[in-house]
Amino acid sequence: MSFNTFGKQFRFTTWGESHGPALGCIVDGCPPNIKLKEQDIQVELDKRKPGQSKFTTQRKEDDKVQILSGVFEGKTTGTPISLIIYNQDMRSKDYGNIKDKFRPGHADFTYFKKYGIRDYRGGGRSSARETAARVAAGAIAKKVLENKLGKKFKVVGAVTQLGILGCDTAKWNDQVIKKNPFFCPDKSILKLWKKYLLDVRKSGSSCGAVIEVRARGIPIGLGAPIYSKLDMDIASAMMSINAVKGVNIGSGMNSAQLSGEQNSDEISQKGKKLKFNSNNAGGILGGISSGQEIVVSFAVKPTSSILTTRKTIDKFGKNTTISVKGRHDPCVGIRAVPVGEAMMNCVLLDHYLMNKAQCS
Ligand SMILES: Cc1cc2nc3c(=O)[nH]c(=O)nc-3n(C[C@H](O)[C@H](O)[C@H](O)COP(=O)(O)O)c2cc1C
Repeated sequence: MSFNTFGKQFRFTTWGESHGPALGCIVDGCPPNIKLKEQDIQVELDKRKPGQSKFTTQRKEDDKVQILSGVFEGKTTGTPISLIIYNQDMRSKDYGNIKDKFRPGHADFTYFKKYGIRDYRGGGRSSARETAARVAAGAIAKKVLENKLGKKFKVVGAVTQLGILGCDTAKWNDQVIKKNPFFCPDKSILKLWKKYLLDVRKSGSSCGAVIEVRARGIPIGLGAPIYSKLDMDIASAMMSINAVKGVNIGSGMNSAQLSGEQNSDEISQKGKKLKFNSNNAGGILGGISSGQEIVVSFAVKPTSSILTTRKTIDKFGKNTTISVKGRHDPCVGIRAVPVGEAMMNCVLLDHYLMNKAQCS
């Protein structure tokens, strides 16, 4: 049994390891005649790539993508699109002294116990290097959705909580997100976040984050009852991202505290215009998109690889300690933003194509 493929109608299969020569993916089920060039994918990869600011890991990866198949004269041909990204800045020797030890919070222990072998260099396949391939696949999904849904379509993600410091999502501004190293949507909190994260980094520790991804311009009708509900597939997609430990759709966990009057979004009609008075449902009713903004948020745990010495065991079952060298993000949640956007694009395109097949 192996599970490296995502999606039903729009599918991608990722391959590669953190310290292997390259990683990539094969995208299958992409509609033909969609304009696509390497640069369309590169802009998304550049948002995720490491070494972008002092708030992310200093591992230097260009993450330069190459299209190997499925595109002819600048357009998709409907055949498998194969993408490759070469790894460059691997420092596998950083991992030599911990090769027999299981890093707390990582997949080392479970991979070894399950498979009896593991690539200890940077976590191998369990490393979030893999998310570069998803971001590449997501860039293709985005191009197709832009083509099919037009200008109103937009998927945008942001960090809405950094460690213990939340931001005011009522102040959400897409332009602000683009212009700061945290993908923060609220300008007023930036100074505080900067100081907080520098302190976290200086202390050799790490912090978690909450990411919110919003999708606009989504038509009514995407999603299928009962075992392919749109919210179910979005939650599953977000949960598949490394270090994600919780997912909310719309008001999510908070909806348990609300009364029926507060929670269910009232509907009204003014002329031809339909209006929901609130969006606790996160744009999905009965597993089907309602035409409202689709809203998902997810919690990313604090980076496990920290400078502090931790207790663990080795593969021979002996108690030991570990302190991780290597280069790591003080908050991996920041770089999870483009990954969340990519997964949202892939789920939406998958459902768009399934809806076309059944209902158009
Ligand atoms: C974009 C991204 C970058 C990551 N980089 C690191 C890192 O530098 N150090 C680290 O300890 N964990 C990092 N992680 C998290 C680990 O990959 C993840 O915690 C680990 O594979 C165990 O999987 P799990 O947390 O999903 O159980 C990153 C996650 C993401 C989404």
